[in-house]
Amino acid sequence: MATSMLWRSTFVRAVPWRACTRITTTRVTVAAPLRMARFYSQDPSSGIHKPPGQTLAQQGQERTAAAAATTAAGSEPLVTSESTGAPDEAAAAPEVNYPPKEELTPLAKHIRDSIKIQGPMSVAHFMRQVLVNPLSGYYMKGDVFGTQGDFITSPEISQMFGELLGIWFLVQWQNIGKPSRVQIVELGPGRGTLMLDMLRAASRFKEFRKAISGVHLVEASPGLRKMQRQTLCGIPLSEEQVGGGSREGITAAMRPDGLQISWHDVFDDLPDECSLIVAHEFFDALPIYKFEKTDEGWRELVVDLEEDPASTYHFRFVLAPGPTQASRAFAEHAAYEHFKTGDRIEISPDSFRVSHDMAKHMSKNGGSALIVDYGKDYIQGDTLRGIHKHKFTHVLTEPGKVDLSADVDFNYLKQATEELVNCHGSITQAHLLHSLGIGARLDMLLAKASAHRREGLISSYHRLVDPKEMGNVYRVMAMTPLGSPTPIAFEPQAPPPQSPPPTSSKL
Ligand SMILES: C[S@@+](CC[C@H](N)C(=O)[O-])C[C@H]1O[C@@H](n2cnc3c(N)ncnc32)[C@H](O)[C@@H]1O
Repeated sequence: MATSMLWRSTFVRAVPWRACTRITTTRVTVAAPLRMARFYSQDPSSGIHKPPGQTLAQQGQERTAAAAATTAAGSEPLVTSESTGAPDEAAAAPEVNYPPKEELTPLAKHIRDSIKIQGPMSVAHFMRQVLVNPLSGYYMKGDVFGTQGDFITSPEISQMFGELLGIWFLVQWQNIGKPSRVQIVELGPGRGTLMLDMLRAASRFKEFRKAISGVHLVEASPGLRKMQRQTLCGIPLSEEQVGGGSREGITAAMRPDGLQISWHDVFDDLPDECSLIVAHEFFDALPIYKFEKTDEGWRELVVDLEEDPASTYHFRFVLAPGPTQASRAFAEHAAYEHFKTGDRIEISPDSFRVSHDMAKHMSKNGGSALIVDYGKDYIQGDTLRGIHKHKFTHVLTEPGKVDLSADVDFNYLKQATEELVNCHGSITQAHLLHSLGIGARLDMLLAKASAHRREGLISSYHRLVDPKEMGNVYRVMAMTPLGSPTPIAFEPQAPPPQSPPPTSSKL
Protein backbone atom coordinates (compact mmCIF):
# COMPACT_ATOMS: atom_id res chain seq x y z
CA MET A 1 0.00 0.00 0.00
CA ALA A 2 1.35 3.44 -0.87
CA THR A 3 2.36 5.08 2.36
CA SER A 4 0.48 8.29 1.67
CA MET A 5 -2.70 6.18 1.34
CA LEU A 6 -1.75 4.37 4.49
CA TRP A 7 -1.51 7.68 6.29
CA ARG A 8 -4.81 8.90 4.96
CA SER A 9 -6.73 5.71 5.68
CA THR A 10 -5.28 5.30 9.12
CA PHE A 11 -4.92 8.71 10.56
CA VAL A 12 -7.91 10.45 9.18
CA ARG A 13 -9.43 10.22 12.67
CA ALA A 14 -6.48 12.10 14.00
CA VAL A 15 -7.67 12.77 17.55
CA PRO A 16 -4.66 11.19 19.33
CA TRP A 17 -2.30 13.43 17.40
CA ARG A 18 -4.05 16.45 18.83
CA ALA A 19 -3.51 15.06 22.27
CA CYS A 20 0.23 15.49 21.77
CA THR A 21 0.14 19.25 21.90
CA ARG A 22 2.72 19.43 24.64
CA ILE A 23 5.31 17.55 22.67
CA THR A 24 4.64 19.06 19.30
CA THR A 25 4.49 22.57 20.70
CA THR A 26 7.82 22.11 22.38
CA ARG A 27 9.32 20.73 19.27
CA VAL A 28 8.19 23.28 16.73
CA THR A 29 8.83 26.42 18.68
CA VAL A 30 12.55 25.96 19.17
CA ALA A 31 14.22 29.31 18.64
CA ALA A 32 15.98 29.35 15.27
CA PRO A 33 19.48 30.32 16.40
CA LEU A 34 19.50 27.56 18.98
CA ARG A 35 18.32 24.75 16.78
CA MET A 36 21.74 23.32 16.16
CA ALA A 37 21.87 19.66 15.33
CA ARG A 38 25.03 17.70 16.00
CA PHE A 39 26.26 17.18 12.48
CA TYR A 40 27.94 20.46 11.48
CA SER A 41 31.56 19.77 11.99
CA GLN A 42 34.13 21.81 10.18
CA ASP A 43 35.11 24.11 12.98
CA PRO A 44 38.85 24.60 13.31
CA SER A 45 38.45 25.63 16.95
CA SER A 46 37.63 22.02 17.80
CA GLY A 47 41.31 21.41 18.23
CA ILE A 48 41.82 18.80 15.53
CA HIS A 49 40.15 20.07 12.42
CA LYS A 50 42.24 21.20 9.50
CA PRO A 51 43.17 24.87 9.85
CA PRO A 52 42.07 26.95 6.87
CA GLY A 53 44.53 26.98 3.99
CA GLN A 54 46.53 24.06 5.29
CA THR A 55 46.63 20.70 3.57
CA LEU A 56 46.25 17.52 5.53
CA ALA A 57 49.86 16.70 4.70
CA GLN A 58 51.13 20.07 5.99
CA GLN A 59 49.08 19.64 9.09
CA GLY A 60 50.51 16.19 9.57
CA GLN A 61 54.10 17.45 9.27
CA GLU A 62 53.52 20.04 11.96
CA ARG A 63 51.93 17.57 14.27
CA THR A 64 54.62 14.97 13.70
CA ALA A 65 57.24 17.60 14.49
CA ALA A 66 55.38 18.59 17.64
CA ALA A 67 54.99 14.99 18.67
CA ALA A 68 58.67 14.31 18.11
CA ALA A 69 59.30 16.59 21.04
CA THR A 70 57.21 14.39 23.27
CA THR A 71 58.22 11.15 24.94
CA ALA A 72 56.12 8.02 24.78
CA ALA A 73 55.08 8.73 28.36
CA GLY A 74 53.91 11.97 26.95
CA SER A 75 54.51 14.79 29.33
CA GLU A 76 58.26 15.49 29.33
CA PRO A 77 59.55 17.44 26.33
CA LEU A 78 62.59 15.82 24.72
CA VAL A 79 63.79 19.11 23.29
CA THR A 80 64.63 21.23 26.34
CA SER A 81 65.59 24.88 26.35
CA GLU A 82 69.01 23.76 27.60
CA SER A 83 69.73 21.63 24.56
CA THR A 84 68.74 24.39 22.18
CA GLY A 85 70.83 27.03 23.95
CA ALA A 86 67.72 29.02 24.76
CA PRO A 87 68.06 29.70 28.52
CA ASP A 88 69.78 33.09 28.07
CA GLU A 89 67.12 34.30 25.71
CA ALA A 90 64.45 33.04 28.08
CA ALA A 91 66.06 34.86 30.98
CA ALA A 92 66.12 38.06 29.00
CA ALA A 93 62.57 37.72 27.75
CA PRO A 94 59.94 39.97 29.33
CA GLU A 95 57.51 38.24 31.67
CA VAL A 96 54.43 37.01 29.87
CA ASN A 97 51.00 36.99 31.47
CA TYR A 98 49.38 33.80 30.30
CA PRO A 99 45.60 33.40 30.39
CA PRO A 100 44.38 31.18 33.22
CA LYS A 101 43.72 27.54 32.37
CA GLU A 102 40.05 26.61 32.04
CA GLU A 103 38.18 25.02 34.93
CA LEU A 104 39.49 21.57 35.85
CA THR A 105 36.27 19.52 35.92
CA PRO A 106 36.21 16.45 38.20
CA LEU A 107 36.49 14.29 35.10
CA ALA A 108 39.40 16.38 33.75
CA LYS A 109 41.18 15.83 37.05
CA HIS A 110 40.59 12.09 36.80
CA ILE A 111 41.87 12.02 33.19
CA ARG A 112 44.86 14.20 34.07
CA ASP A 113 45.83 11.89 36.94
CA SER A 114 45.42 8.86 34.74
CA ILE A 115 47.69 10.36 32.04
CA LYS A 116 50.28 11.33 34.65
CA ILE A 117 50.48 7.74 35.81
CA GLN A 118 49.95 5.78 32.60
CA GLY A 119 50.93 8.18 29.83
CA PRO A 120 48.77 9.51 26.98
CA MET A 121 45.41 7.82 26.45
CA SER A 122 43.66 6.77 23.27
CA VAL A 123 40.99 9.08 21.89
CA ALA A 124 38.54 6.18 22.30
CA HIS A 125 39.28 5.91 26.01
CA PHE A 126 39.04 9.69 26.40
CA MET A 127 35.69 9.73 24.56
CA ARG A 128 34.30 6.85 26.62
CA GLN A 129 35.27 8.63 29.85
CA VAL A 130 33.83 11.94 28.69
CA LEU A 131 30.48 10.49 27.61
CA VAL A 132 29.65 7.58 29.88
CA ASN A 133 31.99 7.63 32.88
CA PRO A 134 29.54 6.48 35.60
CA LEU A 135 30.35 9.33 37.96
CA SER A 136 30.53 12.40 35.78
CA GLY A 137 30.27 11.43 32.10
CA TYR A 138 28.36 13.84 29.87
CA TYR A 139 25.27 11.64 29.39
CA MET A 140 25.16 10.63 33.03
CA LYS A 141 23.82 14.00 34.09
CA GLY A 142 20.44 13.46 32.44
CA ASP A 143 18.65 15.75 30.00
CA VAL A 144 21.05 17.37 27.53
CA PHE A 145 18.58 17.89 24.69
CA GLY A 146 16.51 20.76 23.31
CA THR A 147 16.81 24.51 23.67
CA GLN A 148 17.88 24.31 27.31
CA GLY A 149 20.41 21.60 26.54
CA ASP A 150 23.26 21.32 24.08
CA PHE A 151 21.71 20.15 20.81
CA ILE A 152 18.49 19.08 19.14
CA THR A 153 17.73 15.85 17.28
CA SER A 154 15.15 14.91 14.61
CA PRO A 155 12.62 13.26 16.95
CA GLU A 156 12.72 16.37 19.13
CA ILE A 157 12.06 18.58 16.11
CA SER A 158 8.81 16.95 15.02
CA GLN A 159 6.50 14.07 15.93
CA MET A 160 6.43 13.26 12.19
CA PHE A 161 9.89 11.72 12.42
CA GLY A 162 9.03 9.04 15.00
CA GLU A 163 5.61 8.37 13.50
CA LEU A 164 7.13 7.69 10.09
CA LEU A 165 9.77 5.38 11.52
CA GLY A 166 6.94 3.57 13.32
CA ILE A 167 5.29 3.07 9.92
CA TRP A 168 8.53 1.72 8.46
CA PHE A 169 8.62 -0.90 11.22
CA LEU A 170 4.96 -1.76 10.70
CA VAL A 171 5.55 -2.40 6.98
CA GLN A 172 8.72 -4.31 7.83
CA TRP A 173 6.85 -6.48 10.33
CA GLN A 174 4.46 -7.34 7.47
CA ASN A 175 7.43 -7.98 5.14
CA ILE A 176 8.93 -10.55 7.49
CA GLY A 177 5.67 -12.50 7.77
CA LYS A 178 3.88 -10.82 10.71
CA PRO A 179 5.54 -12.76 13.55
CA SER A 180 3.09 -13.18 16.43
CA ARG A 181 5.59 -11.82 18.98
CA VAL A 182 8.02 -9.04 18.35
CA GLN A 183 9.96 -6.76 20.68
CA ILE A 184 10.74 -3.14 19.88
CA VAL A 185 14.33 -2.17 20.70
CA GLU A 186 15.99 1.24 20.78
CA LEU A 187 19.67 1.96 21.30
CA GLY A 188 20.41 5.30 22.99
CA PRO A 189 16.82 6.57 23.33
CA GLY A 190 17.67 10.05 24.70
CA ARG A 191 14.48 11.52 26.15
CA GLY A 192 12.34 8.63 24.83
CA THR A 193 10.57 10.87 22.34
CA LEU A 194 11.28 8.76 19.25
CA MET A 195 9.93 5.62 20.96
CA LEU A 196 6.85 7.47 22.19
CA ASP A 197 6.01 8.64 18.66
CA MET A 198 6.76 5.23 17.13
CA LEU A 199 4.55 3.44 19.65
CA ARG A 200 1.71 5.90 19.13
CA ALA A 201 1.85 5.32 15.37
CA ALA A 202 2.14 1.54 15.83
CA SER A 203 -0.76 1.37 18.25
CA ARG A 204 -3.14 2.50 15.50
CA PHE A 205 -2.61 -0.88 13.86
CA LYS A 206 -4.30 -3.36 16.17
CA GLU A 207 -2.75 -6.53 14.79
CA PHE A 208 0.75 -5.08 14.96
CA ARG A 209 0.21 -3.65 18.43
CA LYS A 210 -1.01 -7.03 19.65
CA ALA A 211 2.21 -8.65 18.45
CA ILE A 212 4.44 -6.24 20.40
CA SER A 213 5.61 -8.20 23.43
CA GLY A 214 7.61 -5.40 25.03
CA VAL A 215 9.97 -2.49 24.55
CA HIS A 216 13.69 -2.77 25.30
CA LEU A 217 15.93 0.25 25.66
CA VAL A 218 19.73 0.09 25.68
CA GLU A 219 20.79 3.12 27.70
CA ALA A 220 23.94 3.86 29.68
CA SER A 221 22.65 6.87 31.60
CA PRO A 222 20.62 6.39 34.80
CA GLY A 223 19.42 10.01 34.51
CA LEU A 224 18.16 9.50 30.96
CA ARG A 225 16.53 6.18 31.91
CA LYS A 226 14.36 8.10 34.38
CA MET A 227 13.54 10.65 31.74
CA GLN A 228 12.61 7.86 29.29
CA ARG A 229 10.38 6.32 31.96
CA GLN A 230 8.66 9.67 32.41
CA THR A 231 8.10 10.06 28.66
CA LEU A 232 6.94 6.51 28.03
CA CYS A 233 5.20 5.56 31.26
CA GLY A 234 4.13 8.94 32.62
CA ILE A 235 5.99 8.44 35.91
CA PRO A 236 6.92 11.95 37.04
CA LEU A 237 10.50 12.99 37.38
CA SER A 238 11.11 14.74 40.67
CA GLU A 239 13.96 17.19 41.03
CA GLU A 240 16.17 14.82 42.98
CA GLN A 241 15.67 12.14 40.35
CA VAL A 242 17.28 14.24 37.63
CA GLY A 243 20.99 14.19 37.07
CA GLY A 244 23.82 11.78 37.44
CA GLY A 245 26.07 10.68 40.18
CA SER A 246 24.16 7.45 40.67
CA ARG A 247 25.31 4.17 39.32
CA GLU A 248 21.84 2.72 39.83
CA GLY A 249 19.60 2.66 36.82
CA ILE A 250 16.00 1.62 36.67
CA THR A 251 15.53 -1.64 34.81
CA ALA A 252 11.78 -1.98 34.18
CA ALA A 253 8.51 -0.05 34.20
CA MET A 254 4.98 -0.56 32.94
CA ARG A 255 3.14 1.75 30.56
CA PRO A 256 -0.52 2.59 31.13
CA ASP A 257 -1.36 0.50 28.05
CA GLY A 258 0.21 -2.56 29.67
CA LEU A 259 3.38 -2.59 27.58
CA GLN A 260 6.47 -3.34 29.65
CA ILE A 261 9.58 -1.20 29.15
CA SER A 262 12.92 -2.81 30.07
CA TRP A 263 16.32 -1.15 30.20
CA HIS A 264 19.66 -2.81 29.40
CA ASP A 265 23.28 -1.74 29.71
CA VAL A 266 24.40 -3.41 26.50
CA PHE A 267 22.80 -4.85 23.38
CA ASP A 268 23.98 -8.35 24.27
CA ASP A 269 21.63 -8.39 27.28
CA LEU A 270 18.50 -8.39 25.11
CA PRO A 271 16.18 -11.38 25.36
CA ASP A 272 16.16 -13.72 22.40
CA GLU A 273 13.08 -12.71 20.42
CA CYS A 274 12.29 -11.31 17.00
CA SER A 275 13.35 -7.65 17.28
CA LEU A 276 12.56 -4.41 15.48
CA ILE A 277 15.56 -2.27 16.31
CA VAL A 278 16.11 1.45 15.91
CA ALA A 279 19.33 3.37 16.61
CA HIS A 280 19.06 7.10 16.08
CA GLU A 281 22.19 9.17 16.77
CA PHE A 282 23.59 6.31 18.82
CA PHE A 283 26.61 5.15 16.81
CA ASP A 284 28.04 8.66 16.56
CA ALA A 285 28.39 8.64 20.36
CA LEU A 286 30.45 5.45 20.42
CA PRO A 287 34.20 5.90 20.93
CA ILE A 288 36.55 6.25 17.98
CA TYR A 289 40.29 5.88 17.58
CA LYS A 290 42.15 8.40 15.45
CA PHE A 291 45.16 7.61 13.27
CA GLU A 292 47.44 9.60 11.01
CA LYS A 293 49.49 8.23 8.12
CA THR A 294 53.17 9.14 8.47
CA ASP A 295 56.19 8.24 6.38
CA GLU A 296 56.78 5.43 8.88
CA GLY A 297 53.21 4.10 8.67
CA TRP A 298 50.02 4.65 10.69
CA ARG A 299 50.46 6.41 14.01
CA GLU A 300 47.77 6.83 16.66
CA LEU A 301 46.66 10.28 17.77
CA VAL A 302 46.44 10.18 21.52
CA VAL A 303 45.44 12.61 24.27
CA ASP A 304 48.26 14.05 26.35
CA LEU A 305 48.62 16.78 28.98
CA GLU A 306 48.83 20.31 27.60
CA GLU A 307 52.00 21.77 29.08
CA ASP A 308 52.05 24.97 27.03
CA PRO A 309 51.27 27.78 29.47
CA ALA A 310 49.87 29.85 26.62
CA SER A 311 47.08 27.32 26.11
CA THR A 312 43.98 27.47 28.28
CA TYR A 313 43.29 23.77 27.79
CA HIS A 314 44.49 20.94 29.99
CA PHE A 315 44.84 18.43 27.17
CA ARG A 316 46.16 18.24 23.63
CA PHE A 317 46.47 15.71 20.83
CA VAL A 318 49.87 14.22 20.01
CA LEU A 319 51.00 11.55 17.63
CA ALA A 320 52.32 8.42 19.27
CA PRO A 321 56.01 8.17 18.34
CA GLY A 322 55.73 4.51 17.29
CA PRO A 323 53.06 1.92 16.54
CA THR A 324 50.51 1.27 19.31
CA GLN A 325 48.32 -1.78 19.94
CA ALA A 326 45.42 0.12 18.38
CA SER A 327 47.32 1.25 15.28
CA ARG A 328 48.45 -2.33 14.69
CA ALA A 329 45.01 -3.82 15.34
CA PHE A 330 42.82 -1.33 13.48
CA ALA A 331 44.75 0.93 11.10
CA GLU A 332 47.32 -1.40 9.57
CA HIS A 333 44.86 -2.90 7.15
CA ALA A 334 45.00 -3.37 3.39
CA ALA A 335 41.86 -1.26 3.03
CA TYR A 336 43.76 1.80 4.29
CA GLU A 337 46.97 1.34 2.30
CA HIS A 338 46.04 3.93 -0.31
CA PHE A 339 46.06 6.83 2.18
CA LYS A 340 48.84 9.42 1.86
CA THR A 341 51.18 10.85 4.46
CA GLY A 342 49.28 13.34 6.60
CA ASP A 343 45.87 11.75 6.00
CA ARG A 344 43.82 10.79 9.00
CA ILE A 345 41.19 8.17 9.67
CA GLU A 346 38.73 7.52 12.51
CA ILE A 347 37.77 3.95 13.43
CA SER A 348 35.16 2.83 15.95
CA PRO A 349 35.64 -0.82 16.98
CA ASP A 350 32.76 -0.43 19.48
CA SER A 351 30.45 0.43 16.58
CA PHE A 352 31.70 -2.63 14.70
CA ARG A 353 30.92 -4.84 17.69
CA VAL A 354 27.40 -3.46 18.23
CA SER A 355 26.61 -3.77 14.52
CA HIS A 356 27.87 -7.35 14.57
CA ASP A 357 25.79 -8.14 17.69
CA MET A 358 22.70 -6.69 16.02
CA ALA A 359 23.23 -8.83 12.92
CA LYS A 360 23.89 -11.95 15.01
CA HIS A 361 20.76 -11.33 17.07
CA MET A 362 18.65 -10.82 13.96
CA SER A 363 20.02 -13.85 12.18
CA LYS A 364 19.07 -15.96 15.22
CA ASN A 365 15.73 -14.37 16.15
CA GLY A 366 14.53 -12.52 13.05
CA GLY A 367 13.55 -8.87 12.88
CA SER A 368 14.77 -5.71 11.19
CA ALA A 369 16.81 -2.65 12.08
CA LEU A 370 17.11 0.99 11.11
CA ILE A 371 20.26 2.97 11.85
CA VAL A 372 19.98 6.74 11.40
CA ASP A 373 22.99 8.95 11.90
CA TYR A 374 25.19 11.49 10.24
CA GLY A 375 28.01 9.91 8.35
CA LYS A 376 29.09 8.48 5.02
CA ASP A 377 29.51 5.12 3.31
CA TYR A 378 33.26 5.39 3.75
CA ILE A 379 35.91 6.14 6.34
CA GLN A 380 36.64 9.77 7.18
CA GLY A 381 39.36 11.79 8.92
CA ASP A 382 38.68 14.63 11.32
CA THR A 383 34.99 14.53 12.17
CA LEU A 384 35.17 14.28 15.95
CA ARG A 385 33.51 17.39 17.38
CA GLY A 386 32.62 18.88 20.74
CA ILE A 387 29.21 20.49 21.27
CA HIS A 388 28.10 22.63 24.18
CA LYS A 389 25.08 24.93 24.44
CA HIS A 390 24.40 24.71 20.70
CA LYS A 391 27.95 25.73 19.76
CA PHE A 392 30.99 23.80 18.64
CA THR A 393 33.82 23.67 21.11
CA HIS A 394 37.35 22.34 21.31
CA VAL A 395 37.11 18.54 21.52
CA LEU A 396 39.26 18.36 24.64
CA THR A 397 37.67 21.21 26.57
CA GLU A 398 35.92 20.71 29.94
CA PRO A 399 35.52 16.90 29.82
CA GLY A 400 32.11 15.81 31.04
CA LYS A 401 30.48 19.15 30.26
CA VAL A 402 30.75 18.83 26.48
CA ASP A 403 29.10 16.33 24.14
CA LEU A 404 31.43 14.50 21.73
CA SER A 405 30.37 12.88 18.49
CA ALA A 406 31.93 11.58 15.29
CA ASP A 407 30.55 10.71 11.86
CA VAL A 408 29.51 7.11 11.29
CA ASP A 409 31.15 4.95 8.60
CA PHE A 410 28.14 2.94 7.37
CA ASN A 411 30.31 0.70 5.24
CA TYR A 412 32.22 -0.35 8.36
CA LEU A 413 28.93 -1.20 10.09
CA LYS A 414 27.97 -3.26 7.05
CA GLN A 415 31.26 -5.17 7.10
CA ALA A 416 30.52 -6.12 10.70
CA THR A 417 27.33 -7.96 9.70
CA GLU A 418 29.34 -10.66 7.87
CA GLU A 419 26.47 -11.75 5.65
CA LEU A 420 24.36 -12.61 8.69
CA VAL A 421 21.69 -10.21 7.41
CA ASN A 422 21.00 -8.11 4.33
CA CYS A 423 22.16 -4.51 4.62
CA HIS A 424 20.45 -1.74 2.64
CA GLY A 425 21.56 1.81 2.01
CA SER A 426 22.71 4.09 3.24
CA ILE A 427 20.08 6.45 1.85
CA THR A 428 19.43 10.01 2.89
CA GLN A 429 17.00 10.89 5.65
CA ALA A 430 15.07 12.96 3.10
CA HIS A 431 14.64 9.92 0.84
CA LEU A 432 13.40 7.79 3.72
CA LEU A 433 10.91 10.36 4.99
CA HIS A 434 9.58 11.20 1.52
CA SER A 435 9.18 7.48 0.78
CA LEU A 436 7.19 7.08 3.97
CA GLY A 437 4.84 9.91 3.05
CA ILE A 438 6.00 12.84 5.13
CA GLY A 439 4.18 15.19 2.74
CA ALA A 440 0.84 13.45 3.34
CA ARG A 441 1.41 13.39 7.09
CA LEU A 442 2.28 17.08 7.08
CA ASP A 443 -0.90 17.89 5.15
CA MET A 444 -2.97 16.02 7.72
CA LEU A 445 -1.38 17.88 10.60
CA LEU A 446 -1.70 21.22 8.81
CA ALA A 447 -5.39 20.67 8.19
CA LYS A 448 -6.07 20.60 11.91
CA ALA A 449 -3.49 23.11 13.13
CA SER A 450 -3.79 26.73 14.21
CA ALA A 451 -2.02 29.33 12.06
CA HIS A 452 0.84 29.60 14.55
CA ARG A 453 1.32 25.85 14.72
CA ARG A 454 1.23 25.54 10.93
CA GLU A 455 4.28 27.75 10.63
CA GLY A 456 6.09 25.54 13.09
CA LEU A 457 5.03 22.34 11.31
CA ILE A 458 6.23 23.62 7.96
CA SER A 459 9.55 24.76 9.32
CA SER A 460 10.05 21.38 11.07
CA TYR A 461 9.27 19.62 7.80
CA HIS A 462 11.93 21.65 6.01
CA ARG A 463 14.40 21.08 8.78
CA LEU A 464 13.98 17.31 8.50
CA VAL A 465 14.09 16.95 4.70
CA ASP A 466 15.78 19.91 3.08
CA PRO A 467 19.18 18.99 1.64
CA LYS A 468 20.83 21.96 3.32
CA GLU A 469 19.28 21.12 6.68
CA MET A 470 19.12 17.54 7.99
CA GLY A 471 17.78 15.92 4.80
CA ASN A 472 21.08 14.83 3.25
CA VAL A 473 23.56 14.86 6.09
CA TYR A 474 21.66 12.28 8.08
CA ARG A 475 21.74 8.89 6.41
CA VAL A 476 19.87 5.67 7.03
CA MET A 477 20.94 2.05 6.80
CA ALA A 478 18.65 -0.96 7.25
CA MET A 479 19.29 -4.56 8.25
CA THR A 480 16.77 -7.24 7.29
CA PRO A 481 16.81 -11.05 7.47
CA LEU A 482 18.48 -12.86 4.57
CA GLY A 483 15.92 -13.64 1.90
CA SER A 484 13.28 -11.13 3.04
CA PRO A 485 11.94 -8.51 0.60
CA THR A 486 13.76 -5.22 0.14
CA PRO A 487 12.39 -2.79 2.71
CA ILE A 488 10.37 0.27 1.82
CA ALA A 489 12.54 3.25 0.78
CA PHE A 490 15.57 1.08 0.05
CA GLU A 491 14.53 -0.27 -3.35
CA PRO A 492 17.51 0.00 -5.72
CA GLN A 493 17.34 2.62 -8.46
CA ALA A 494 14.16 4.11 -7.04
CA PRO A 495 13.99 7.74 -8.13
CA PRO A 496 14.06 9.93 -5.04
CA PRO A 497 10.40 10.53 -4.21
CA GLN A 498 9.53 14.13 -3.53
CA SER A 499 6.57 15.39 -1.61
CA PRO A 500 5.47 18.73 -2.99
CA PRO A 501 6.70 21.37 -0.56
CA PRO A 502 3.88 22.91 1.41
CA THR A 503 2.58 26.07 -0.26
CA SER A 504 2.21 29.37 1.52
CA SER A 505 -1.52 29.23 0.75
CA LYS A 506 -1.77 26.55 3.38
CA LEU A 507 -0.62 28.97 6.03
C1 LIG B 1 22.92 11.78 20.93
S1 LIG B 1 21.94 10.95 22.06
C2 LIG B 1 20.63 10.45 20.97
C3 LIG B 1 19.32 10.38 21.68
C4 LIG B 1 18.10 10.02 20.83
N1 LIG B 1 18.29 8.82 20.06
C5 LIG B 1 17.71 11.17 19.94
O1 LIG B 1 17.98 11.11 18.77
O2 LIG B 1 17.16 12.15 20.45
C6 LIG B 1 22.82 9.46 22.41
C7 LIG B 1 22.08 8.49 23.31
O3 LIG B 1 22.87 7.31 23.45
C8 LIG B 1 23.13 7.03 24.83
N2 LIG B 1 24.46 6.43 24.87
C9 LIG B 1 25.63 7.01 24.53
N3 LIG B 1 26.64 6.14 24.65
C10 LIG B 1 26.09 4.97 25.07
C11 LIG B 1 26.61 3.68 25.36
N4 LIG B 1 27.90 3.43 25.25
N5 LIG B 1 25.76 2.72 25.75
C12 LIG B 1 24.43 2.96 25.85
N6 LIG B 1 23.87 4.17 25.60
C13 LIG B 1 24.70 5.16 25.20
C14 LIG B 1 23.02 8.38 25.48
O4 LIG B 1 22.84 8.31 26.87
C15 LIG B 1 21.83 8.97 24.72
O5 LIG B 1 20.62 8.45 25.18
